[in-house]
Amino acid sequence: MRTKEELAFQRCIRPACAATFSVSETLTACPKCGDLLDINYDWNRQQVPSSLKDFEKKYATRRNPLHYSGVWRFKELLNFAPDEAVLSIGEGQTLLRREADVAQYVGLDAKDVFLQYEGLNPSGSFKDNGMTAAFTHARMVGARMAACASTGNTSASLAAFAAATRALGLDNPLEAIVFVGSGRIAMGKLAQSLDYGARTLQILGRFDDAMRRVQEVAKARGIYIMNSVNPFRLEGQKAIMYRLLEALNWEVPDWIICPGGNLGNSSAFGKAFSELHCLGLVSRLPRLAVINAAGADTLNRVYNDYSVRWNEGAINSKGIETHYAKLDAEGTQAHTVATAIEINRPVNLHKCLRALECLNGMVLSASDQEILDAKAIVGRGGIGCEPASAASIAGLKKLVERKIIGKGERVACVITGHQLKAPEVTVGYHSPSGDLKKKLADEHDVQRTPNANAPIQVENDLDAILKALG
Ligand code: F0G
Repeated sequence: MRTKEELAFQRCIRPACAATFSVSETLTACPKCGDLLDINYDWNRQQVPSSLKDFEKKYATRRNPLHYSGVWRFKELLNFAPDEAVLSIGEGQTLLRREADVAQYVGLDAKDVFLQYEGLNPSGSFKDNGMTAAFTHARMVGARMAACASTGNTSASLAAFAAATRALGLDNPLEAIVFVGSGRIAMGKLAQSLDYGARTLQILGRFDDAMRRVQEVAKARGIYIMNSVNPFRLEGQKAIMYRLLEALNWEVPDWIICPGGNLGNSSAFGKAFSELHCLGLVSRLPRLAVINAAGADTLNRVYNDYSVRWNEGAINSKGIETHYAKLDAEGTQAHTVATAIEINRPVNLHKCLRALECLNGMVLSASDQEILDAKAIVGRGGIGCEPASAASIAGLKKLVERKIIGKGERVACVITGHQLKAPEVTVGYHSPSGDLKKKLADEHDVQRTPNANAPIQVENDLDAILKALG
């Protein structure tokens, strides 16, 4: 139970329930009503800087790991743990960059389009922002085993943090167990989990199956869950927005755009802004656009076809039930080239609906063709990303085409994962022929590759090479 002295506590997101629990408890759902949990703070008693600019001062003391971390630099905004419990692997040294190629591709001015490149994290995706927070909580409660279901990035991040608990010689190292769908994971991600020493279970099924199983196993064996049903993880992911604001000199952009899979990021972004606004640290809110892959588009369906809304916590959930019943009746499985977001039952759906309400949100879907065409443009700019990340750009293009986003609006797209996570897709797109290209066409209906930079085959002969160079 929560004690009144606690400055941070867990609270059920459903206003009609709003049960509270101590941060010393390990929960992935409200024990009273089953809905998701938030971490809340007694802001009156937390020492929060009066201006966001104050956080910049910590750069001067970056030898302190808590100040080096792009998450814990903002600790006053996620202050649920004692400093000594924090486990950081140097997450959050990421970059916000203007992208002229992307701006031109989507039809906006180069000065207005920014990519928040989270592929720069130690494990190559935004997940490290959340994992540092979840591992910190796991250490607070004395967990010894950590598990997740994953489309590949959560598992890579979990494996990296668990490895760090050994490599850093911590008293209580955590063992990593990851559940992935068999054959549904990009090579780079599987390689990470294996290389970092995680016990890796390839379930004969998809992410949605693995997600259900990991919860059952965690319950049976008392294992700590690192998926985004863990409310502490999402506290770390708020920092992506803090850094984005910092890079914009604390000016709130007009739009934040991110891919939607399990809907943890979008949920965390909504919470970050709603808290900053309540604290008076920002004076206005951005709009949020969440982009699903067309082959895994539960959010898009329930939000746009069934008009499901948060409604201040009284969700009209009939549309969600109808949609899931339809998926079951038709035996529909999630299927997209953006395997990171190949999810039909997003666990954070309710929280994401809340974020969409708070940030006047939009939801769209993008086809595999649109995603890969956009991905090639991101790559051309020298950053590069995995397919799921490019959903942000494919979505932005559509929002501009539909005149929902207009010239002069400032847009920040979250590039969630590194290009090298899924090299097989990139090579397939750029190749003029071959197995990888055929796979894209046969399995993902990507028939055209207009933005390809095809390799040039040439004889091992100087004249032939010079001729090929033109
Ligand atoms: N982009 C990438 C690269 C991802 O790995 C994920 C999720 C998302 C976007 C979607 O983010 O779940 O917060 O909506 N990957 C999870 C995983 C599901 O297991 O690695 P979300």
